[in-house]
Amino acid sequence: MPDVRVVNVSKKFGKIVALDNVSLHIHEKEYFSLLGPSGCGKTTLLRLIAGLIQPDKGEIYIGERFVNNVPPEDRDIGFVFQTFALFPHMNVWDNVIYGPRVKGFDMKKAGIIGHEVLEMVKLHERSDAFPNELSGGMMQRTAVARALAAGAKLLLLDEPLGQLDAKVRKELRYDIRRMVKDLELTAIHVTHDQAEAMSISDRIAVIKKGKVQQVGTPEELYMNPQSVFVANFIGESNFLEGYVSIMTGKETSIELRGGTKVHATNGDLKRGERVVLAIRPETFTIEKGARRGENAISGSVERVVFEGTNIRYEVRLENQDSILIAKPSLMGEWFNIGEKVTVSFQREKAHVFPYPETGLKEEIAVE
Ligand SMILES: Nc1ncnc2c1ncn2[C@@H]1O[C@H](COP(=O)(O)OP(=O)(O)OP(=O)(O)O)[C@@H](O)[C@H]1O
Ligand SMILES: [Mg+2]
Repeated sequence: MPDVRVVNVSKKFGKIVALDNVSLHIHEKEYFSLLGPSGCGKTTLLRLIAGLIQPDKGEIYIGERFVNNVPPEDRDIGFVFQTFALFPHMNVWDNVIYGPRVKGFDMKKAGIIGHEVLEMVKLHERSDAFPNELSGGMMQRTAVARALAAGAKLLLLDEPLGQLDAKVRKELRYDIRRMVKDLELTAIHVTHDQAEAMSISDRIAVIKKGKVQQVGTPEELYMNPQSVFVANFIGESNFLEGYVSIMTGKETSIELRGGTKVHATNGDLKRGERVVLAIRPETFTIEKGARRGENAISGSVERVVFEGTNIRYEVRLENQDSILIAKPSLMGEWFNIGEKVTVSFQREKAHVFPYPETGLKEEIAVE
């Protein structure tokens, strides 16, 4: 259950900057996720913490210990990989008690640990099976059991659910979190799946191109994204472009493309500044017909997608911008393709960001 501190760590591979001055503090007993698009440096950071590679610059501490020069086997870490990294010639039982055996525990003590963790991952009845006789979910359960049996207090998981189908992924993520919490471990979990990170983590670091963009609880990241990138990567956002037309102590008015004026609350802007408004699909209100009012924009429904829990409407606004609106399908009225509607939003629900230097498209691209 140690804490982990990463201090000003950078890592290059030739010319590729995999990590650029990354600092993070992962608290003890915390379930922490590293989230970001493919190639952003997540695995590199995990491998640095594990000691499989060395930083070019910066320091890593596990608990009180400065570990830059400590080899992986002396860091007291359990590692679960994306690919099913079990010993193929050993059955589940032998895979699981491998760690305790290597540590020199006798068969009795290793056996007690083995029974405990297999109970925990619900694989007791399959302890005789070989990896090739198991489903993907079972293989990952075995891999988690093996990491837990080794007794490490820090668990590193690199896309442990990546190869599993959707239902199994969901189930197993709650199981892994529960085990980590029951055993009071510290876990660092790498994923590019924001829904997975949101549902499993105490806190998340969002990483882009080797840099930490924002660290926070799932709620903080969702409710208060601090950049266009995070607003887009965590959950979904509609982005509306415009200029700050009025900026006084009390009032911030934004003129959207096409001239529609809307009100916002965010303060730190200049008159004339080019901005982007990020608004979540579920925070829009949608009504039939045309209505004037604060932050009300007319448009017409272009697409309707029934998704079960939600219905999603694609609405073409009067300025030709297209937005996505999500509404619970069992509540309120439905709207049809071609229907004239008014969409509106509360000013405090719109996050206003300076227009990204690299352009909006590039900023929200995930590759
Ligand atoms: N051993 C290596 N040699 C050269 N380049 C590397 C090496 N390891 C990683 N990289 C590069 O460093 C960058 C970060 O890679 P990393 O594997 O950490 O990304 P990631 O966030 O884990 O991506 P993914 O989600 O696809 O697994 C990438 O550009 C990658 O190509
Ligand atoms: Mg990776």
